[in-house]
Amino acid sequence: MSTVFESAIKNFLAPIGDLLADDSVSEVMINGPSEIFIERKGLVYKSDNQFSDEEALQSAVRAIAQSVGRVIDDDNPRLDARLPDGSRIHAVLPPMAKMGTTVAIRKFSKDDLTLKDLINFGSLSADAARFLDICVHLGKNILVSGGTGSGKTTMLNVLGGRIPKTQRLLVIEDAAELQVDAEHVVYFEARHENKDRGIKPVSITHLVQSAMRLRPDRIIVGEVRGVEAMDLIQVMNTGHDGSMGTVHANNPSEACTRLETLALMGDTQIPPDAVRKMVGSALQLVVQCSRYSDGGRRTSHISEVLGVDEFGRYIVRDIFRWMQTGKDEQTGKYIGEVVACNYLPTFFDQIVVNKLPFPKSKFIAPEWVQKISKKAA
Ligand SMILES: Nc1ncnc2c1ncn2[C@@H]1O[C@H](COP(=O)(O)OP(=O)(O)OP(=O)(O)O)[C@@H](O)[C@H]1O
Ligand SMILES: [Mg+2]
Repeated sequence: MSTVFESAIKNFLAPIGDLLADDSVSEVMINGPSEIFIERKGLVYKSDNQFSDEEALQSAVRAIAQSVGRVIDDDNPRLDARLPDGSRIHAVLPPMAKMGTTVAIRKFSKDDLTLKDLINFGSLSADAARFLDICVHLGKNILVSGGTGSGKTTMLNVLGGRIPKTQRLLVIEDAAELQVDAEHVVYFEARHENKDRGIKPVSITHLVQSAMRLRPDRIIVGEVRGVEAMDLIQVMNTGHDGSMGTVHANNPSEACTRLETLALMGDTQIPPDAVRKMVGSALQLVVQCSRYSDGGRRTSHISEVLGVDEFGRYIVRDIFRWMQTGKDEQTGKYIGEVVACNYLPTFFDQIVVNKLPFPKSKFIAPEWVQKISKKAA
């Protein structure tokens, strides 16, 4: 950890030092100097910690910004930065932040999660995890979709870690966050414009263009939030099979639409219908991450994208999905599991040809699900 950052923590962040040091706290949310909430195991609690006043809080935020070479002031009242320890911070100053300086610190999780961890958390079933592993192995283009804080980056990290070790992976992000467990991986981070310091921007689009010329086997675009959607679509459609990205959307079909909308935001000359078809052919799998109100983060859908139908709608079929079966009275946690949806992916023959141990029967919904479905019908 850089010493500038360490001293910023010691001096200015002392009021929340214990929260930052506590590994069980995953997020610290500061809503003005006297209201601090934390997230622990997916649930949000109010903390007793406080800053002495708004000035102390602003000094802390300014010190953090300074320690990572950024500025937060009246002219630049928002800060989006990655701290030297890997944590991520976003801050907004008043008067935009009505309750005083508002900050969220997403703490870097020291233990990189694996597919096994996601199974243990109940976020995936063993079969669904194995299926995802196979999809990564076969080089399917995967879009990880979900709401804010639903576990998209974590999922992308986990999937990236399953890329065959012989392949060269190029990772491009707006703010470096991913730490993929791969042998041959190269990371890029976009640069933001800073007119005061004469720094010109280097966008994700620029970096994707460079990545294409750096002999990639696969490209990961960490978070697709803008016109770089078009770049990811083109990467996926130009033979870089097994490329991946994340997008903010509530379900797999919305994820396709979101990618299309973002791609059209640029100055592309390609007509919307053609872009839709490009999205339909670029994507093969959508992994939907969801955060439920019991605090659990689960993989709610794993779906195949088949293209676009004659009415211009995306054809998306669920392969696995999470189903709730009850609720634990004591803990309030939902009970459920990720189950197969009676749908055989179109690339099943590749699973067979490559002798991957995943029989057809794994795609059949368990009997109890079939019974529920029959009842509902
Ligand atoms: N399946 C899971 N089970 C439990 N905790 C998880 C799971 N996935 C992610 N988390 C935790 O949830 C938090 C948010 O995860 P992550 O950063 O991956 O979300 P995100 O969707 O990328 O968020 P954002 O929208 O802010 O980019 C992290 O603290 C992470 O460790
Ligand atoms: Mg993320």
